[in-house]
Amino acid sequence: MIIEPRMRGFICLTAHPEGAAQSIKNQIEYVKSKGAIDGAKKVLVIGASTGFGLASRVTSAFGSNAATIGVFFEKPPVEGKTASPGWYNSAAFEEEAHKAGLYAKSINGDAFSKEIKQQTLDLIKADLGQVDLVIYSLASPVRQHPETGVLHRSVLKPIGGVFTNKTVDFHTGKVSDISIQPAVEGDIENTVAVMGGEDWAMWIDALKAENLLAPGATTVAYSYIGPSLTEAVYRKGTIGRAKDHLEATAFEITDSLKDIDGKAYVSVNKALVTQASSAIPVIPLYISLLYKIMKEEGVHEGTIEQIQRLYSERLYAGSEVPVDDKGRIRIDDWEMRDDIQEKVAALWTQATTENLAEIGDLEGYRKDFYNLFGFDIQGLDYNKDSNEMVKIDSLD
Ligand code: NAD
Ligand code: NA
Repeated sequence: MIIEPRMRGFICLTAHPEGAAQSIKNQIEYVKSKGAIDGAKKVLVIGASTGFGLASRVTSAFGSNAATIGVFFEKPPVEGKTASPGWYNSAAFEEEAHKAGLYAKSINGDAFSKEIKQQTLDLIKADLGQVDLVIYSLASPVRQHPETGVLHRSVLKPIGGVFTNKTVDFHTGKVSDISIQPAVEGDIENTVAVMGGEDWAMWIDALKAENLLAPGATTVAYSYIGPSLTEAVYRKGTIGRAKDHLEATAFEITDSLKDIDGKAYVSVNKALVTQASSAIPVIPLYISLLYKIMKEEGVHEGTIEQIQRLYSERLYAGSEVPVDDKGRIRIDDWEMRDDIQEKVAALWTQATTENLAEIGDLEGYRKDFYNLFGFDIQGLDYNKDSNEMVKIDSLD
């Protein structure tokens, strides 16, 4: 059948299997074109099927010939209904990894649960012995707590007062004002429970308890800071509290890994179109202006370029990992350049429905959004029939 994007609100209900496969091939080609990275050889990626986690898995495998285990939560296809995009990404990733002679297995299920953690530990024990890099890249709106059973929901709200600013509906291009009500009782705690560092620490504790972390093992989780424009709703909002918690957890994990000389880092990454970020009000307008400026300046990157640079110029550059005054790796350095932020701020005040297509990169935003679902991928002929019933090698 011919698969087309079917939208409901900000979600795309369909995904294109061959498009996802082509996107994986393009990412692999990019990593190979940048040359070998002297990095980790046995890698666990938690949140491995889309976004930064997928880019991390691709970079480990095709930059450093690493064996990878990927954990994710994706929907398999059913007859007449496509899988979720991360399913097709992971199927294509495994296929390419296996063709290249690389170990690659996947686990599909709730990474917050004890069961999925145990399944992962068992797989590492059986197949790899130990891992030397753990990437933590989950983005989820909910977490069922493994001890209490409580279902926590994260929210994207300002703290202390209503936040009003511009936003764009990137499908229609309509720029309008949006007001977001402040967090209420429980919102901060719930958001920290979902997107903070507790689960990351649980994973590392569990791995360490079973001696599955190699001496000198590294773990990295991803964070975001962004500009003052989005501060009230992002970094100083509920999600920012979760990121504060995640960043503080890195120090606790590093302490807990002293005896094996292990280290936990948070890497602050650039704002990019992912399923998670397109749902945050105000961010799409910021991203469309940011893309315009970063492309003009020749410093635009997608997830694969970000992670390839994180590995080659930060984590595995052969010298001490450079960090900021809060101990964080900064790969958002180009986004946060003063000249870039000044230009974005100037455009922000001008942006309207009428001029956004011209002063912003709405086209680029939309293309990246469709790309997440395997549509509009460079190098694929979309007139051919698709087969939605794709299997993931290791999950058969
Ligand atoms: P994403 O939505 O593309 O990826 C999320 C991953 O988590 C997917 O692999 C998904 O399957 C997995 N996942 C979600 N819930 C799960 C569960 N219960 N069990 C197992 N797997 C589950 O998100 P992303 O944008 O790549 O975000 C990853 C991290 O990077 C987040 O911490 C995010 O805050 C951070 N980050 C994002 C941006 C951005 O602009 N997108 C910028 C900087 C940092
Ligand atoms: Na991810």
